[in-house]
Order: sequence, then C-alpha cells, then structure tokens
Amino acid sequence: MMGDKKRYEALIEELNQYSYDYYVQDNPSVEDVVYDKAMQELLKIEEAHPDWITVDSPSQRVGGEILEGFQKVTHKTPMLSLGNAFGEDDLRDFDRRIQDRIGDGTEYEYMCELKIDGLAVSLIYENGEYRQGATRGDGTTGEDITANLRTVRSIPIKLKETLSIEVRGETYMPKKSFQKLNGAREEEGLPLFANPRNAAAGSLRQLDTKIAAKRNLDIFLYSVADFGDMGVTKHSEGLDYLEKLGLKVNKERRVCKNIEEVLAYVEEWTAKRSDLAYEIDGIVVKLNDLRQQEEVGYTVKSPRWAIAYKFPAEEVPTVLRDIELRVGRTGVITPTAILDPVHVAGTTVSRASLHNEDLIKQKDIRIKDTVMIKKAGDIIPEVIRSLPEKRTGSEEEFHMPVHCPECGSELVRLEGEVALRCINPKCPAQLKEGLIHFVSRSAMNIDGLGEKVVRQLFTHELIHDVADLYFLSKEELLQLERMGEKSVTNLLAAIEKSKQNSLERLLFGLGIRHVGAKAARSLAIHFETMDNVKEASLEDLIAINDIGEIMADSIVTYFENEEVHSLLQELERAGVNMTYTGPRLEEVPEEDLVFAGKKVVLTGKLEQLKRDEAKALIESLGGSVSGSVSKNTDIVVAGSDAGSKLEKAEELSIPIWSENDLLEYLPDEGGLIK
Ligand code: IVH
Repeated sequence: MMGDKKRYEALIEELNQYSYDYYVQDNPSVEDVVYDKAMQELLKIEEAHPDWITVDSPSQRVGGEILEGFQKVTHKTPMLSLGNAFGEDDLRDFDRRIQDRIGDGTEYEYMCELKIDGLAVSLIYENGEYRQGATRGDGTTGEDITANLRTVRSIPIKLKETLSIEVRGETYMPKKSFQKLNGAREEEGLPLFANPRNAAAGSLRQLDTKIAAKRNLDIFLYSVADFGDMGVTKHSEGLDYLEKLGLKVNKERRVCKNIEEVLAYVEEWTAKRSDLAYEIDGIVVKLNDLRQQEEVGYTVKSPRWAIAYKFPAEEVPTVLRDIELRVGRTGVITPTAILDPVHVAGTTVSRASLHNEDLIKQKDIRIKDTVMIKKAGDIIPEVIRSLPEKRTGSEEEFHMPVHCPECGSELVRLEGEVALRCINPKCPAQLKEGLIHFVSRSAMNIDGLGEKVVRQLFTHELIHDVADLYFLSKEELLQLERMGEKSVTNLLAAIEKSKQNSLERLLFGLGIRHVGAKAARSLAIHFETMDNVKEASLEDLIAINDIGEIMADSIVTYFENEEVHSLLQELERAGVNMTYTGPRLEEVPEEDLVFAGKKVVLTGKLEQLKRDEAKALIESLGGSVSGSVSKNTDIVVAGSDAGSKLEKAEELSIPIWSENDLLEYLPDEGGLIK
C-alpha cells in the first residue's frame, strides 16, 4: 500500500508546518479542528503501520518514555556564562573596555537581546536531525535531557537544511502556563513552584517524559556553539540563519550602533517587560562582529565581548494588614507580615517573614503601613521598608507579646539571641512544627505527609505527638479534606515503611536541639541503639568526634525528660525501629560517603533543595558545610547566579558541583522536594 505511505509522509509534513506556524512563528495558520483531523488520520495510519513511524512524526512529541536517570554529557565547547552589569555605569564601563580592546576609532556595533529567565540548554543536530539535548550543568558537564526536550513543540526535530550544528538557547515556561500549572498544583495540595524558572527546571528533570510534555515549555535559541564556517561574519547574521533553519529566535533582538542605543533598548524593555508572555531578568549585550569577538576574547568563565544587564529586583508597594506570630519548632517566635496580595516576580505574595522585633523597629514598620516588597534572590518575599509618607495616622506600632500566642507561657530572650522563645516543651505550636520536621525528607521521610496534612491532623486533634502518627486509622484519615481512599492507603503505607528507618533518621527527626543530621548519624553509628544513646553520659558523648559540649549537654538534658521516655516507649510499641541498620563504619561503601571528611561550601540559588536540606544531605554523607571558600575547601556546590565564591573556587581549582550532582546522592531520587 505505497499510496498510504505517501499520504503518511504528506501528513507529517503538513502537521509539522502547522506546528511551526503555531509554536515557532506564533502565527497559527489553521483552525484547531483542521490540525486535529489531520492528527487523527496520522495516528490511524501509525496504528496500522507502526514500523513506518518516523522520528519527526508529531505523535512522537507526547512523551511516554520513562527514564531511569539522566546521563552526563560533556560539552565539546564549554557553555559559558556572562558577567553582570547592574546599572548604566556598568554598561558604560563595559563599552569602554570593548573600545580599549578593539582600538580607538574602530567601528563596532552591539546586538541587544532579552535575557530570558529559564534554563540554558544545548541542542545537537546531525545532518539536520535532532540528536541530543542537554542542560548547561556546570558549563563543562551537563545532563542528557534529549527525551524531555523532544516534547518541546518549538524545537524542530528536523531542520530545514541537512547540516550538523550545536545550538544553544534558553528553555522557559511562559507566564500563562506557569500560572495554570501552579493553580492546578494548589488544587491538588502539591507544593507550588516559586517562579517559572524553577518550574521549567523541575519539568526538564522529570523522569516521566509524559509529564514534561504537558508542561508547555518553550525555547529561544541565542547562539551557536561554534560559528565555524557557517559563512556568517556577525552574530546577528548567525541568528537570522538559525531562524532560516526553522529554529525559534526571539524577535525583540536589535542591533544597536552605540552604547546610547543600547541604553535606550534597556530602558524600553525595563518598562515593557511585564507585557511579555515570558519572564525576562535582564538584557544581554553582545559585540556583533564575530572577528571582533575573538579579538576581545574570554575570561575563564565568560566572554569579554558580552555582558548581562540585570534588572533590579522588582519592588512593589502593598499594605501590611497585620503582623501574625508563628511559633517555630524550637520555640522561636517569628513575626510574619500579612499583606494585601500582590504580584511580585512571577507569583502572588501575601505573607513575608519580618524576622524579629529589632528589624521591625529598624525599618520602622507599623501595622497598616504601606510597605515595599521584593523577593530576595527572586524567591523569598521580603518587606524592604515602610513608606511613612503614606501614613494616615491609623497605623499602629507593633510590640512583641510577653506570652506565647499559642500556649500562653511566658516568652524568654536567651542570652546573645535577638529572638524571643517559648520554652514550654508542650506548646502545641512547637509540637506541630516538630512533627513537620519529623516527617520531612531528611528525617523520617514520610511521603504524602506535607505541612498541610500535618496541620489538618492537628486541627482535627488526630495527633498530639509524633508517636500518634503510628496509630492513625484509615477511617480517621478519610475525614480529612482532600484525602481519598487512594491517598490514605499510600500515606499509611509510607508511615508503615518509615518504621524500618535506621536509627539516625529517628534521632534527627526527634528534633533534639543542636543535633543535626550529621551528629544524629554519628550517634547512631557509635551507640547502635536508642537505649544506648539514652544512657550515654556527658563524657561518653563528648568522646565522639563531631559532638561538642553544648550538643552533649543538650542530648543528656533531652533524655532526662520523663516525657521523652514515654514518647520513646510509644514509638517502640508502634514498632518503630530503634537500632542502627546502616552499614558499619568500616564497611560503608565509598559511594555512600562521598563527603567523608570533606569541607563543602554551598553558593548561589539552589532550585530543588532548600539550603538546610542540602546541608543535611551533605552532613548525612559525612561532610561538613562551611560558609566561605578557602584552600581547605574540598567541593563547592554552585547553584544559579553563584558569585564571588564560585570565582574563588575556580581560582583555587576546587572541584565545582552543580545542584544536580548533589541530587544524585539524595536517597529515593526523583520527584519534587518540598
Ligand atoms: S548568551 C557565551 N543570550 O543567561 C554567552 N544568554 O549568564 C552565552 N540567557 O547562561 C549566553 N537569555 O542561560 C545569552 N539572549 C541570551 C540569553 C542568555 C538568557 C541566559 C543563559 C546564560 C545566562 C548568562
């Protein structure tokens, strides 16, 4: 049936053209029904002739492959990053440096592009066919995300010419898709992504390619690994050429004749950025002539011929309605601003921590004040200052209470601390926070038991302490909002599974003051059983490496408490394991103790792990985390926008890991980390 095959090929071409018009050109050429009809016909043919299916069939875009992990990819040409400019002065300095390097009087021009806030990726085409897609990683080594990138509709599977080329660009999630995704996640009680960039990163790291396919990712290509003999002499011509190949290049790019035109472009887009369908975090300025680029050259990590102008963090005004007090796990009282909801850097903000009373005084923040909000590091909402000129006289000064807002006991200020604390060990708020810690990933690791569910369990008085968790029944759990038969079964199974955890997880989960994941592990390895830890004397404890006097004291005091004894009895009655079941110290396989004795520094923004989770992870693998890079540092884990610490690490030739490298060692890989 040759005719059928011709029809099949024609359909592929037709559908790919529609897709190109829609996704790359942003200019739909047919009604949805026309597309759907052709697609149905194609699927029918493919069903009858599965052996005909070609790589560029649109049916291959929907994912389906389940990956086991991501292979490492070494970039043939390193993926560099850019130096930053934070204002007009920095841009003018950059321009002067360029002039100095190419010689006074030589003509030159710039290419200005929007700096898309997403994830840098590399795409390799061989003889015009999509072969590989990879993340930037640390610039030298990234991860193979070929399958997930194949689901991005604006990435052509076949170029319009049969050439071999490696192109680079930014994958991103459009604002609308991001809002839709977070909206749906909120409905389902799933943790929200902080911004479109994190959402895009999370989507590309999905092991289930079907999920990535549903995330509506998009791309803009902005360079070629090696312009080589493409026959172009300017970056702008290179981009035009990429467009001709069918690749998606941002339309807002502009050649600027001099720095004044660059500044005008920057000003224009500073004003217009919120109108765009995607987030940008700045403007990239590149010297346009490729020969001049070579003349100007490179530093170790970035080209000297380009710079990234970064927009200042968005600051927006809103009204501070009230100040709420939160009681944390260790009893620290944190004042939290309740704000009129405002849109800041991609999400709606309605609360922000005010840290402590001193800071509130310093910033002269009063209840009902108009305040300016920004997101620190584009993630954590922060109240920057009040606007006293907007006061009407009805504003109220804030004072910290004398008693715990949850249990009423008197608050204390411990020596040398700014924070006020509730020191009542039975304070319900502390118990609740303690439970959130207990079930968390680095402690007992109980899946499906997020903050929301824990709060519900408390409100319904189904639990009072961590042991109660192990006596929950199916009927009780079914009472909770949004808990169906299936989630209850899964939750109970996760709780049951946690009973088998090795002792260090329980020790860490109990939340003994000063005992972090690393110390918990040392205690478990050394004492082997909970009973032994309980009976250890101050001297026994201090004798252990990593355990100092303050911690030892805290451990002894903890186990002197009668309440703790009955809690442990309850846990034991529930069948929770109280012994160390991990490998003997001398048997620990090397790969399990990657950080043994190593000093690690964390820098930059981490996408998936919280700082304290990353720290706990490193500590549980034998390492210690310190704040500054020195020649004694063994590894630097660099997130995005890492600054001087990363530079120093490079100078000192200290191995640099990406967050993904670190995630490789996360127990139970995969999924989203809260
Ligand atoms: S050019 C060798 N152009 O910003 C220079 N980068 O630190 C390669 N980015 O890692 C980068 N939009 O992820 C370039 N139009 C654009 C960009 C862009 C976003 C990102 C890219 C890069 C980072 C710069």
